Amino acid sequence: MLGRLNHVAIAVPDLAAASAVYRDTLGASVTAPQPLPDHGVTVVFIDLGNTKVELLEPLGVDSPIAAFLAKNPAGGMHHVCYEVDDIIVARDRLKATGARVLGDGEPKAGAHGKPVLFLHPKDFQGTLVELEQA
Ligand code: CO
Repeated sequence: MLGRLNHVAIAVPDLAAASAVYRDTLGASVTAPQPLPDHGVTVVFIDLGNTKVELLEPLGVDSPIAAFLAKNPAGGMHHVCYEVDDIIVARDRLKATGARVLGDGEPKAGAHGKPVLFLHPKDFQGTLVELEQA
């Protein structure tokens, strides 16, 4: 069921500052900021060839990463995103095992315009898992 690692996401308090670190200190190429109001975040991506890093900054008052940043003010690793061939098949299979899907359980369009879902960290070794349809 599980495919490639699509990205590792790092929540940051200041997207411009974090982008500058990746661009200027680490010498990476960083995409332009992309607001995702449905997800309460603004994102940039750093393409590493074999996978990507996503930097996330809160967007709006109800951002789902606000509590994470309150606990981790300097930022920190927030989730990993794995590709699946069919997100509905994957979701139904996971739910049948008792895994918890966050939100209303319906996929939303993610940063790449493809359907994504998030799985409860307590069911996956303390790590928030995003699934993205490949
Ligand atoms: Co993500």
